[in-house]
Order: sequence, then C-alpha cells, then structure tokens
Amino acid sequence: MPDLSTEFIGLKLRNPLIAASSGLTNTIEDIIEFEKAGVGAVVLKSLFEEEIRIELEKDLASMNKESFLYPETIGFYDSFHEVDDMMTRYLGLIGEAKKKVAIPVIASINCLTAEKWPYYATTLQDAGADALELNVFSLPSDLNHSPEKDEKLFFDIVDAVKDKVNIPVILKISFYSSNLASLIYQLSKTEISAITLFNRFYSPDIDINTFQVTASNVYSTPGDLSMSLRWIALMSDRVECQLSASTGVHDGTAFIKQLLAGASVVQVASAFYKNGKDFAGQILTELESWMKKHEFQTLDDFKGKLSYANTKNPAAYERTQFMKHFAGKEIKA
Ligand SMILES: Cc1cc2nc3c(=O)[nH]c(=O)nc-3n(C[C@H](O)[C@H](O)[C@H](O)COP(=O)(O)O)c2cc1C
Repeated sequence: MPDLSTEFIGLKLRNPLIAASSGLTNTIEDIIEFEKAGVGAVVLKSLFEEEIRIELEKDLASMNKESFLYPETIGFYDSFHEVDDMMTRYLGLIGEAKKKVAIPVIASINCLTAEKWPYYATTLQDAGADALELNVFSLPSDLNHSPEKDEKLFFDIVDAVKDKVNIPVILKISFYSSNLASLIYQLSKTEISAITLFNRFYSPDIDINTFQVTASNVYSTPGDLSMSLRWIALMSDRVECQLSASTGVHDGTAFIKQLLAGASVVQVASAFYKNGKDFAGQILTELESWMKKHEFQTLDDFKGKLSYANTKNPAAYERTQFMKHFAGKEIKA
C-alpha cells in the first residue's frame, strides 16, 4: 500500500488532501464528517472581522448609537440574521473540534485593518488551533495606490501576526499582483510556513435584462485549475516555504497534477459542495491507485517531478500566446 502521509507546516497529515475554508467547515458536524471522509486536515470557515463589526453594529443600533459601518456593505450582509456572538462561537468550534477529531484543525481569519490581525490571531491560537490561515483578500483597484503600497499590506500583516503567535501561519493570497512571482518569493522568506495559491473571490456578473450587477459562479470549475497549477509549478522550487494548492481541483487527476507541480498539500472546496464530503475518498483512492501503477511508495517519490525546474519543458509554464505550433491539436490557432 502506498504511504500517503506527509508533513505540512510542521504538522503530521495522514494525506495531503485538505478541506478548504468554506461554509462546509463551519460546524463540528461538518468537521467530523470530513475526518470520516478521510481528509488530512481541515481549514475552518474564515472568521471575518467585518461580520463581527456587523454584530456590534446591531448592538449599537439597538442602543441608538451612530453607525460606523460603510453603508455599501450592509446589503451584502442582510442575510446574516443569526450573527450572535460570532467570536465566542468560533472559539467554541475550535475547542470542540480539538476534542472530537484527530486531524489538524486550521483556523482562518480575515480582517479589515492591519492592526486587528494580531488580536484575532492570538485569540484563535489560544483557543487551540493547530495553525492559522490568513485569508488576505485585497483587490488592487485603487488608482491612488502604488503596487508597493498594496503589497506592503501582506508584509505588515505577516510581521504583526508572527510577532504575536507561535503556531504555524499560512498566507492565502489571490493572483492579483503586478509581479506575482516576486511577491510570492518575498513572502516565502518571511516567517510564514506556507502560502496558499489561490483564494477564490466573490466575482461580479451582469444581468443584461434587468441591468443589475449580480454574482457570478460561486463554485470553481475544472477549467479553473490551470491558474493555480501554473503558479505552483513556477514557484515550488523557488520559494522558501511550502505551497498549498487551491482552486479547480475537481478529481483525483487534478489533485495528482498539483502534487507533481510541487504542492505540499491540496485544498478543495467546490468539488465537496458539488459531490459531498465523501468525495474525499474517491480522490484519495485515485491517488493511491495511480501511485501503485507508477510504483511510487511515498509522496516524496513524485512530488514536484513536473515543477518548473524538474520538467524537461519549463517554458511550457511560461508560455502565454496561442501560436499554431503550441495549440492543442483540436484548436485552429
Ligand atoms: C461557498 C464558498 C465559501 C468560501 N469561504 C471561504 C472563506 O471563508 N475563507 C477562505 O479563505 N476561503 C473561502 N472560500 C474559498 C475556498 O477555500 C477555496 O480557496 C476556493 O473555493 C478555491 O478552491 P475550489 O476550486 O476547490 O473551490 C470559499 C469558497 C466557496 C466556494
């Protein structure tokens, strides 16, 4: 039997499949189900500072105090009627999960301001989280910001958090950057233990009949794999921390591809929404039979085998234009 166990950010995992942060990792029942389904670890749904502020806002409103929230965020959160003491609930979830499951429990936070990250990080560490994932989303769309200013935020957050916590910290980022390779490399030299490539954002769409801006697909599709696969392959030999792949993994084949590109672990969300948590078993069975077929005993036997440095054709990861010579056979380029 191939050995699927691995070491990630100093934690021992029975396999490299992680249930990514989502609404599916938000209750103790979910976490227990994921453990039974076979995943190696679970990242809890992010604790959003913004949601906690909504809760405070409600309290203030009931006391007729002035609002301090941005009006445009209110609509987005109209559905959160049950926001009762989120922080306490979240800390309770970590504590309960630590008692009831043996797999590592990774907490996740998103804050609005750089100053708040260390406070939340410390609190979640004290509640017993095995590690923390910092869900740093920022859309660099402000014309008055320089790329340096936008990217400094990541370093400020990492410094502030690592100054206060000693559990491993993962940084989850998006692909919006003026020089993504350099940003990932520089971040890997900080005190973080891993970087997750990439987060998936709420994205807008347009309804051409109602003239409304609407939400586009919430879930990824298998076609979304290529972006994270490219960047895992391009960066896995160059970074000084581990890489966790996220986005577009919808079957065992995609899972194996991310490991071949050099990911240490692979996070999955959309495929669990579509197929249920037991789909973890199918992904892992596919990995196991593929390892047997190719006579790999451990993950290290093939991890990174097709990374930028190891593949015979590294330029394939850098190619951007569809020229006739490189297009798939079925495409007329
Ligand atoms: C419904 C939904 C909720 C999510 N919530 C969070 C979240 O709270 N925090 C976070 O860091 N990522 C969140 N994500 C992003 C996922 O963790 C994951 O990075 C992303 O969906 C890409 O992986 P996938 O292609 O397997 O879905 C969410 C994704 C979905 C689909």
